Amino acid sequence: MLQFDENNYTDEELTLEGITIRFRAFRHLMYVEHPKDAEHQQMNIFVPLDYYEGKSINGYTAETAPTFMPNLVGGYMPGEQNNPGYEVWGPKRLNSAFYALAHGYVVATPALRGRSLMDAEGHNVGKAPAVITDYKAAVRYVRYFSDKIPGNQEKIITNGTSAGGAISSVMGATGNHPDYEPYLKEAGAADARDDIFAASCYCPITNLDHADSAYEWEFCGVNDYHRFGMSMDEGGRPSFTPEDGVMSDIQIKASGEEAKLFPCYLNSLELKDEDGNPLTLDADGNGSFKDYMMGVVLASAQRAMDRGVDVSDKTWLTTENGKAVAMDFDAYVRDITRMKTAPAFDDLTMDSPENDLFGTETEACRHFTAYSYENSLVGGKRADEQIVKLMNPMYYIDDEQATKAPHWRIRHGECDRDSSLAISAMLTLKLRGAGYPVDYHSPWDTPHSGDYDLDELFAWIDEICK
Ligand code: DHB
Repeated sequence: MLQFDENNYTDEELTLEGITIRFRAFRHLMYVEHPKDAEHQQMNIFVPLDYYEGKSINGYTAETAPTFMPNLVGGYMPGEQNNPGYEVWGPKRLNSAFYALAHGYVVATPALRGRSLMDAEGHNVGKAPAVITDYKAAVRYVRYFSDKIPGNQEKIITNGTSAGGAISSVMGATGNHPDYEPYLKEAGAADARDDIFAASCYCPITNLDHADSAYEWEFCGVNDYHRFGMSMDEGGRPSFTPEDGVMSDIQIKASGEEAKLFPCYLNSLELKDEDGNPLTLDADGNGSFKDYMMGVVLASAQRAMDRGVDVSDKTWLTTENGKAVAMDFDAYVRDITRMKTAPAFDDLTMDSPENDLFGTETEACRHFTAYSYENSLVGGKRADEQIVKLMNPMYYIDDEQATKAPHWRIRHGECDRDSSLAISAMLTLKLRGAGYPVDYHSPWDTPHSGDYDLDELFAWIDEICK
């Protein structure tokens, strides 16, 4: 039996950077009955203490406060439960859980399984779709105990970055869909709905089965790559060393072949711009969709210029009288540089995080695209297409059996090279085409990252919730 004991909590006060928050903490709540990795199938829930004292924060009360549900998944690795405080990675910065409590949200921070987890018998227990099964189970848990947990469980907002942004987008697109039911049943998830009110997605590494061709549509022609290799230093903290190289002949060939696959996929989506004009590509990858993408980058530059940012070092950008009017797409791509070798996600030697994501209980890695399966250098197997589908929001947007989030916010930094800018744009356009409003743009000079504009994120949440 799933349990939520409302008498098992600690009341805490935390002051950081001059901000004091007081909250009731419910920790280590098992959100499934049959965990395969108990540590990563539990969550913390935090409620502003004011709500137990009949007070309100920012106009919210114990009944009306939205439930903010961020995840800490990165690289499709396990995500940990979070606590209000400083961010675990990157520059020292207060985390979203801290700010969300200060702002008056109820915060639920589920741990989620990831691709590296094994049970005691050596079976993999975190391969796809485990991460999304768990996120859904966590939503179901919060809803199941809605009479005991303060906040409005009809206003659940997921948030994440990169792989975490991707799973947030899956949450937004697939609510209550029967495809996930067998996995939720097996895990022993609560008998409740798992649709959400809003999905906030920073640089989602999603649409994985088309991400290789999208990447080469953008980066083909640039053969040198620049990335950071991660290793653990003696103190157990990650350290990053630059790795620069040139793609091999096989990778260059793959780049050209993948780039050729993209127009067909893009055209199959039948996307339209805000004025209803079709967005398409010709066989060379040129056309109205490319113009649209350049418009996204130009709008990014314009917003920066309007804030007084000096953009004159971007030689690919043409400005006239304070307006960003044109860009050289190829020069822009050379400037932001290629990060990944081709194919960027379904690696021919199955060395990518995504190959690892699509492994099975007994196999570490699999291919998940026809191209890389057919051109595998290691004789790799191919993942079950249904499992690849479960990880991709694009397949569910037109599916009436999926309850979509009515509200979406997508950000993808202008110089992000972890996935093509086309990935978040296609998701946005597909959602808009289906009638779902998306607050989308590409923040200027912003690399692969998230949670950098929490004031704006929370203003958006307040707007959609009130
Ligand atoms: C992440 C980044 C990647 O480049 C990728 O392929 C998958 C995940 C991440 O930061 O989560």
